[in-house]
Amino acid sequence: MSKFLNLLFATCLLTTPVLAEGLGRIATPDEVAAWDIDIRPDGLGLPEGSGTVIEGEGIFEEQCAACHGDFGEGVDRWPPLAGGFDTLTSERPQKTIGSFWPYLSTVWDYINRAMPFGNAQSLTANEVYALTAYLMYLNEIVDDEDFELSKQNFTELPLGNEQNFYPDDRDTTEYPLFTVACMIECKDSVEITHYASGKDVTPE
Ligand code: HEC
Repeated sequence: MSKFLNLLFATCLLTTPVLAEGLGRIATPDEVAAWDIDIRPDGLGLPEGSGTVIEGEGIFEEQCAACHGDFGEGVDRWPPLAGGFDTLTSERPQKTIGSFWPYLSTVWDYINRAMPFGNAQSLTANEVYALTAYLMYLNEIVDDEDFELSKQNFTELPLGNEQNFYPDDRDTTEYPLFTVACMIECKDSVEITHYASGKDVTPE
């Protein structure tokens, strides 16, 4: 194939849905819409709707608390959704929406896409707004039970840890430090002297 055709082909792949010869069919607009449900940090992609903390509490009790606990503390080994403040630099960091997550949009998107576990994508947009509002309440981002989260005020209250996320800068901060091999006084040859199984530390 000529360079020009190569380029044309690559450009088509990137910009328009094209069919590889004889394979599949072009996705319909409805199918694309069903996949295209991501919500961005600036709120792009959010549907119209709203829900309050109180409404969220009711839905949470019915559909979420069995695993995540009434107050998001997590039942048994199911993940906690609240708490863990100021633990990130401790020996056992507890990463929750309040202590760790950077964007509220991830909360909305995650619930909408994946929860309740086992019955994903069964919630209405208003229910997801209400559940997100309730999780903001549990994580002390709002303290008013009447607080209503909506598409309109979605980006007004950032999560606590947002400012600690920054673009990956390892290109400039870390990689240059590792370009020189730093092992010195290495042995000429390496021999295996023991096996874990011989030391009886490997389970049968
Ligand atoms: C049957 C148990 C179960 C129920 C019910 C359930 N979840 Fe979950 N949830 C999970 C599991 C398991 C995970 C972790 C999934 C993973 O990491 O792949 C999770 C993860 C989450 C997370 C992300 C937690 C994190 O820090 O990574 C959120 C937010 C969440 N669930 C919200 C909800 C909401 C809201 C509901 C109710 C509508 C709900 N869940 C119902 C089991 C459940």
